[in-house]
Amino acid sequence: MQATSSAIFSPESWTELLSFEKLFPSRFPLEIEIGCGKGRFLTARASSHPTINFLGIDKLLKRLKKTDKKITLAGLTNVRLIKIDAAYAFEKLLPESSVSTLYIFFPDPWPKRRHHGRRLFSKEFMDSLFKVIIPEGHIYMATDHIEYSEWIRKLFDKDPRFTEIPHLEPEEHERTEFETLFLSQGVRIARLGFKKNAS
Ligand SMILES: C[S@@+](CC[C@H](N)C(=O)[O-])C[C@H]1O[C@@H](n2cnc3c(N)ncnc32)[C@H](O)[C@@H]1O
Repeated sequence: MQATSSAIFSPESWTELLSFEKLFPSRFPLEIEIGCGKGRFLTARASSHPTINFLGIDKLLKRLKKTDKKITLAGLTNVRLIKIDAAYAFEKLLPESSVSTLYIFFPDPWPKRRHHGRRLFSKEFMDSLFKVIIPEGHIYMATDHIEYSEWIRKLFDKDPRFTEIPHLEPEEHERTEFETLFLSQGVRIARLGFKKNAS
């Protein structure tokens, strides 16, 4: 694999579908991490899965730059990074049935009731997930916020387009920065897994 100068890209258009043929050197299944933060999971996962393409999404450039450093140091060409709001990316930029697995670790919980509208998981986001995830594709998440995990489970339970599956237990070297911190503090972590039904 060739080393790249930066994995961060800006799309040619912010309103047209992304072309993965142009973004990645090889046509492999695509996995996405939303809120990839400082990139510990993404770097570990992409290193051990060279025949999968990974797209890291985060709305904070500062964090993406930290991920970028790790990706370029590791010489990974199967990872690209984009600074964007994930809900917008899923609604407008990602083609139908293009993502085989989605990871979301420690999404902002917005605990106050009046802020629940800011949560990533919503009815609209469920429609975007259904559109973008391939049939039988997986969604894995983890959170330290038990109420938010129950809110997410309820959304999926009510939606016949998805089924709950066993969660993902990351290996030690794959744990995200937030997970590492929470585990060191003995904080309880809720993990969930879902798949999009084939029909
Ligand atoms: C609590 S941090 C967790 C970071 C990382 N997943 C971890 O576990 O260490 C949440 C991350 O999600 C990003 N984020 C929150 N809402 C987002 C959104 N709507 N679109 C893209 N990124 C988002 C934040 O910038 C932040 O990096």
